[in-house]
Amino acid sequence: MTQRLVRDGGSPTWRGGWPRWPQPGPGAEQRLLQTLRGERWAVSGPWTGLRPQEAELAEKFASFVGSEWCVPVDHGSSALIAALQAVGVRPGDEVIVPGLTWVASASVVVRCGAVPVLVDIDPRTLCLDPQAVAAAVTPATVAIIAVHLYSSMADMDALQDLAARHGLALIEDAAQAYGATWRGRGAGSIGIAGAFSAQQGKTLTSGEGGLLVTSDLQVRERAEMLRGDGRRYGQGPHVLGRPDLVEASAVQGWNMHMTEFQASLLLDGLERLDEQNRRRAAAAEFLDEALTEQGDLEPVIPHPQNDQRAYYHYVIRLREGSFAGRSAAVVGDALSEELGYWIHTPYQPLNQHPLYDPRRLPGLVEQGRGPTFDPTRFHLPMARREADRALVLHHSMLLGTEDHLRAVVEAFAKVRRLAGDLPSVSQR
Ligand SMILES: Cc1ncc(COP(=O)(O)O)c(C=O)c1O
Repeated sequence: MTQRLVRDGGSPTWRGGWPRWPQPGPGAEQRLLQTLRGERWAVSGPWTGLRPQEAELAEKFASFVGSEWCVPVDHGSSALIAALQAVGVRPGDEVIVPGLTWVASASVVVRCGAVPVLVDIDPRTLCLDPQAVAAAVTPATVAIIAVHLYSSMADMDALQDLAARHGLALIEDAAQAYGATWRGRGAGSIGIAGAFSAQQGKTLTSGEGGLLVTSDLQVRERAEMLRGDGRRYGQGPHVLGRPDLVEASAVQGWNMHMTEFQASLLLDGLERLDEQNRRRAAAAEFLDEALTEQGDLEPVIPHPQNDQRAYYHYVIRLREGSFAGRSAAVVGDALSEELGYWIHTPYQPLNQHPLYDPRRLPGLVEQGRGPTFDPTRFHLPMARREADRALVLHHSMLLGTEDHLRAVVEAFAKVRRLAGDLPSVSQR
C-alpha cells in the first residue's frame, strides 16, 4: 500500500502522545500547600516568622545563573522594564533590539518611552548580528537588548565590546535561555542585567513570573524598588504582623511583585532544571544529526563560545527548494498532523509582526512621534528569510523517549517524501 499523509487519509506517524508541560515535581504540592496554609502569600505581606520563599528563590536563582543578585518579579516583561529603568533608560533614548524575537523584547522599550531600534540577525545563530548593531548605533543609543533565542546565544564577546566602546548598557533577554552558557558564564550574568520569563511555556515556569539578575549593586537596588512601589526589604529587626518592605522613595516604582505561590513553583522547578536541560540537549543533538542526514534540513549553528546550549525552542531549517518547494508553514502543518503536536514557524520579524506596532498607543501619532516608532522603517532581510524557512519544536518534545524522537525523524522523512502532495499555501 502506498503511504499517504494524514491530510490525505493516511495513518499518523505517531499516536503515542507527548510529555506534558509544565511538569511539577513531587515537592511542588507540598511547597504550595505550605504557602497556602501560611499567612504570607506575597513579599508585600507581613512578616510571619518565616523567610519568604521568594527570598530563597532569589538566592538560589542568582547562584544558578552566576550573578550576585536576583530580583523576582511578576513577568519576564517586568524584569526587562525594571532592567531598562534601573540602568537609566529614559524617554526618547534609543535601545537596540533584534528584529526576530517575541514582541515583548521591543514593547518593553516602548513602555519606558524609549525607541526600539530593530536590527537584523545573524542567519547562523538567529540572534543579533553585531555588525548590524554597530551600524545602528547613534548618539541617542543608550542600551542593547541581546536576546538569546531559539536555543542559541547572541555573540556576547562582540556585543560587550561594542557596548564598552560606545558606553551602552548591555541587557540580556534570557527569557528562553535558562542554563545556557557563554565561555562558561551563565546567560543573563554577562550583561549589566539579565531578564528571564517564567511564563507557562518556559523551561522554568510558575505560569507567569519573571526574574531579574545582576551583579551591579545600583541596578539591584533600583530594580528592587522599581518592582515594589518604591519599597524594598528593610534592614531592621522583623516585627510580627508588620511588612518587611520599607518605604525607600528613591524611585517611582509600581507593583511588580511575584507571589509566594509563584516562588514555590519556581523553587520546585529549579531543582530539576539542570537534569531536564541535559535531557533536552541530548535529544536536540540526536535530532540535529538525524535530521541533517536527511539532506534538506539545516540546524542552527551556534557560536563556539556558546559552550552550553539550553533548548527552549528546537529549530530546524528547510533548505531552499526542498520539500517540493513548499513553505515551512505548510510543512509544519503536515508535521503537526503526523505527530499530533504543534510544529510551527518562528516569530514574524518585528517590522511585520501583527502584535507589534507602537503607533497604536493612544496619543503617539497625534504627538508627531509616529514615524519614529514605525516598525516598518527597519529592514530585516535575514530575519525574514530565516523566519520563512524555519520550523520550531517546543522543548517538551525533547523530554520524550527515544521512540518520540525517532517519530520526529520519521515524520520529517515522510513529509519530505510526499511533499508534492501538500497544498501550496498553509490552510491554518
Ligand atoms: C524572548 C522573550 N522575551 C521576553 C518575554 C516576556 O516574558 P513574559 O511573557 O513573562 O512577560 C518572552 C516571553 O515569552 C520571551 O520569549
